[in-house]
Amino acid sequence: MKLAASASESATSLGGADEGAWAEQMKACLAALGISVTLTVWSAVASQDVDKFAKSAKSSVYSEIEKAPEKARLKRNPFEQNPDAVAAGKNLFAQHCAECHGESALGGKKAPSLRAVEIQSASPGAVFWILTNGVVRRGMPVWSKLPEPQRWQLVSYIKSLGVASSQTADDLPKKP
Ligand code: HEC
Repeated sequence: MKLAASASESATSLGGADEGAWAEQMKACLAALGISVTLTVWSAVASQDVDKFAKSAKSSVYSEIEKAPEKARLKRNPFEQNPDAVAAGKNLFAQHCAECHGESALGGKKAPSLRAVEIQSASPGAVFWILTNGVVRRGMPVWSKLPEPQRWQLVSYIKSLGVASSQTADDLPKKP
């Protein structure tokens, strides 16, 4: 904009009708250029900000499970491949977890989906470790009051669900 102003000033100071018209055209041209450059720079900056936010939000919500110590991560689920454990875990989930994580573990207002790749690809031991320790400062309670077998049943159930986008089942209208 400064450029446009000084260009028109020097052009008008030369005097003459033709030069005046030319200066007017130049001024309009430079102003348009200035606006488009400003818009381009602004949109680039804005989209960068959005990317940064999306990335940090994604990594922070599931960052805790990545911190499980190796010893905890390698613990085997004693109920691996046990369908009764999945059924028991489903009941426990409805009782203790659904209010925050949603009925199908797809996430709710209070807590993130447990069907995300970050959780589904974590080792059963890491999920068990999260249940035992919670993420208290971020609103995930400690579940060490549940006996160990029940915590493993919950792990069995969560792992049986598999990866799903949080925009599926819970958001769809329920069948009558
Ligand atoms: C009071 C609400 C609440 C309840 C009840 C709850 N959670 Fe959570 N949970 C959260 C929140 C909030 C987070 C996200 C914590 C964070 O930001 O790391 C979370 C995170 C998790 C995670 C991911 C850990 C991570 O990296 O953040 C797992 C796994 C989990 N919950 C399992 C469960 C299970 C299983 C139950 C039931 C026994 C349960 N939660 C009950 C609020 C809840």
